[in-house]
Amino acid sequence: MNLDSWEPKIVAFLCKWCSGAAAELAGVSRLLYSPNVIPIIVPCSGRVDPDLIVEAFMNGADGVIVAGCHTPSDCHYIAGNFKAFKRVYMLKKLLSDFGIEPERLKLEWVSAVESQKLKTLFDEFTFTIRKLGPLRVKIRGGSV
Ligand code: FES
Repeated sequence: MNLDSWEPKIVAFLCKWCSGAAAELAGVSRLLYSPNVIPIIVPCSGRVDPDLIVEAFMNGADGVIVAGCHTPSDCHYIAGNFKAFKRVYMLKKLLSDFGIEPERLKLEWVSAVESQKLKTLFDEFTFTIRKLGPLRVKIRGGSV
């Protein structure tokens, strides 16, 4: 891999009610955010199974963001964001067992009106991943 031309690939799972709406608002407001981020709108942050996050990493993502509604009372499915919090917390611990820096997975709360916060999240996370470099997962002593 040529590191001079390497660009981070980042998958962002965004709850459609809040952070997904913030992404749309950012687009309507013509806010420029990192083109390295691929937004994927999901019904709720609680819908993002750990499998989806692992799959994103295994398919070339260098970093993954999960963004949802601010508080359990904001979540349209009552406690989906609390579920997401617990899952991401556990997954960060597991990632280090596989030699993946936990910083490559980020959980954030972004409301529908916080397009600027979403832009900052995308830009700063891209900077973090750029500093970490390409993801190299160690599998059975090798790497991919
Ligand atoms: Fe937004 Fe659950 S509906 S996190």
